[in-house]
Formats: sequence, C-alpha cells, structure tokens
Amino acid sequence: MKTNPKPKARKTQKQEMEDLVALLKKWQGLEVKGIAFLNELQHKTENKVLKEVLEIIKQDSGQHRRVQQFIIDGLTKEAYTLTPEEVGEVWKELDKHDELEQATIDMAGEACRKTNSSVARYMLGYLLADEEKHHRMLTALEDVKRSLYPYGW
Ligand SMILES: [Fe+2]
Ligand SMILES: [Fe+2]
Repeated sequence: MKTNPKPKARKTQKQEMEDLVALLKKWQGLEVKGIAFLNELQHKTENKVLKEVLEIIKQDSGQHRRVQQFIIDGLTKEAYTLTPEEVGEVWKELDKHDELEQATIDMAGEACRKTNSSVARYMLGYLLADEEKHHRMLTALEDVKRSLYPYGW
C-alpha cells in the first residue's frame, strides 16, 4: 500500500516576506559598499569620462538603495495601493508624459546618428537606454493597474 509522502514544510507567507526583506537589506548593503568604492575610485582618476561614468553609477546606486527601502516599507509598514480614485486624475497626465518620453527616445537616437565621437555616442547610448526605461516603467505601470483591478478598467 502506498503511503503519501509527508508534505514538505512550506514556508508561511510571513516567513517568505521576512526572507525577502532580509535579501533586500543585504542588497542595500552592497549598494552602500558600492557607493563608497566608487567614491574612492573617483579620487584615483583625473579622467573626465571615467569620473562621469562613476558618478552615474554612484547616483544610480543611491537610487537603487532608496527604491529597495520603498519596497521594504511596503512589505513591513504599510501595503501600497493603486486605486482608481488615486490614479484617476493623474493617469491622463501620465499618458501625456509618456508621449514626451517617446519623443526623447527619438531625439536620443537622432543625436547618436549626428556624431562620430565615440564618447558622445557612448553617453548618448546611456541616455537612450534610460529614456527607454522611463517609457517601459510607465507601460508596466499600466499592467500593475490592470492586475490590481481586473474588472472595470
Ligand atoms: Fe544597484
Ligand atoms: Fe525620461
């Protein structure tokens, strides 16, 4: 006679949340470490291109650390919402802003085609990727809104 295998102890939702928070805090630690390291590096070079690249990554690391904290707060302090009332007014404006983002994507591409400078192209490539990221963020927000309110949107 077959006996059912003992079900594996599954983590509770609370444990899973605590694991995620621990992971995010560890990640924050790496961002902070990275910022300190980039700071040191910036003092070791006089090269303007390198300094600028280090500065961009440093600023991004600070931004990442802040967003990780935002996620942690949402898991531990107050659950975030995205209700129709909250987004109603602003949503149309966001759509307008997205048009602007799309225009900047075109401009970044155009600017890239207008220069042969490898440094300018390199930096423009960075800006282009960032503008595309902004556009993707707004598109993905639409999906979040839909997933929270599957009926009536
Ligand atoms: Fe990062
Ligand atoms: Fe943008």
